[in-house]
Formats: sequence, C-alpha cells, structure tokens
Amino acid sequence: MQFLLFLGTVRDSTPPSPPRLGLRVAKACMTHFRRFHEEHSVELIDPLDFDIGSIFKPHFAYARSKTPSELQALAEKIDEADGYIVVSPEYNHSMSPALAHLLNHFGSSLFSYKPSAIVTYSAGQWGGARAAVGMRTFLSELGCLPVSAMIQVPKAHEVFQEDGAVLDGIDEKGWSEYLGRAFSQLEWWASGAKAQRGHIDPHRLVQDFKRDPSQRNAPGNSEI
Ligand SMILES: Cc1cc2nc3c(=O)[nH]c(=O)nc-3n(C[C@H](O)[C@H](O)[C@H](O)COP(=O)(O)O)c2cc1C
Repeated sequence: MQFLLFLGTVRDSTPPSPPRLGLRVAKACMTHFRRFHEEHSVELIDPLDFDIGSIFKPHFAYARSKTPSELQALAEKIDEADGYIVVSPEYNHSMSPALAHLLNHFGSSLFSYKPSAIVTYSAGQWGGARAAVGMRTFLSELGCLPVSAMIQVPKAHEVFQEDGAVLDGIDEKGWSEYLGRAFSQLEWWASGAKAQRGHIDPHRLVQDFKRDPSQRNAPGNSEI
C-alpha cells in the first residue's frame, strides 16, 4: 500500500524553539514506518515543495486542462494513496494553517474511504493535543477517518534529533511502541478499506459532493 505523510510546518524562523521542529517528527515517523511496515511505501509531502500561490483556488475549481501540474500531481498522489499520516505543530491550540491550506485544495472524494493517523507535536508539554482534537473533525470531514490512537510529541526538540533519531537518554523502545500503536492501527484500517474498495466502489454507492455544498443538506433545509 502507499501512504502519504503530510508535514504541517513552513515556519523558517526562530524564536520560539528550533525552526521546523516538525521535520524531526516527520523523519521519526518515516523511519519507523519504513522499518516496521516495509512492505508499504510512505512519501513525505512538504508544503514548502508546493507553490500554491496566495489566492486560494482549489484543485477542484480548475478546468481539468488548466489545472497547474503540481496541483494535479499531488491530487493524483492523494487519490492513489491508501492512507495518510498527518503531522502538525500546535499553533494557538489549532492545527497548522499551512497544512489546512494545503489540504483545503483537494476535495474529500480524493481522501475518502481511507484512514489517517494524527501526529502532533509542540515545544511545550501537551504535544499539540489541543490541535489534534480539531484535526479529528477536519480529517473526518475529508473522509479519511482518523484511527483512534494518536501520536503526541511534547517538547519534540528534547525527544528527536534533526535526523529523526531519538536523543541520547530518551526511551527509544517506548517511543517506538507508541508510534507503532497508531501506525499498526493505520495499516489495519488501510488494508481493510482497500479490500472493501476493491469489493464495492464507495464512490458509486455514495455519490460525492461535486456541485454544491447544499447537496449535503437535510431535506427541506435548502433555504437555510
Ligand atoms: C504562532 C505560534 C503559536 C504557537 N502556539 C502554541 C500552542 O498553542 N501550544 C504549544 O504547545 N506550542 C505553541 N507554539 C510553539 C510551538 O510548539 C513551537 O514553536 C514548535 O516548534 C512549532 O513547530 P514548527 O517549528 O515545526 O513550526 C506556537 C508557536 C507559534 C509560532
């Protein structure tokens, strides 16, 4: 199976803490996933690699032939992926705006009927737990339901080195088991969802919202 790991940080300044602390967390997740789920692939999606401009125009708002190639390429990756690892810092108790902005460019039909795993981190003691709560709602609306186990990394600069390895004196086994719990859930749900997608095409069974948000309204509420 193929997995995408979305990284949430584009912060390239300091203070506070080292810039792009999230890269360490992302690298730790990638290393773990490649080691313990080696039959699958995982690719890092870094928002800094995408020039999506300051004016918001989502992928689904373009005529097919006019879609910027970068946006189209990422849409295809999202569509082809079997699951997602979503790594976000906590900014003001919320998920990263850069991550939300990137994800908002793509319709739920590309993400849906596949699972996701939420990974948050911070320089502080809560590891982004408050951002993670909001991410459950966000990812659920995209249709890539988050697995129950979440990964929170408090004081991430005191846990992971720049290459994603745990720092000396840190409980490496404990962190490995902690990451493993969420990623094992992700793999289990992803393989189940893939098998079921092969059995029944969910996009045929349940129509995607292609035209207007009012398609999701309860009957009789069209004027509200
Ligand atoms: C705008 C902003 C808001 C922040 N809000 C929080 C917060 O709500 N909770 C927290 O624990 N840390 C917060 N921090 C500190 C971050 O955890 C810390 O800067 C971390 O390194 C951010 O990840 P990044 O370096 O990958 O961008 C905030 C940092 C910034 C820049």
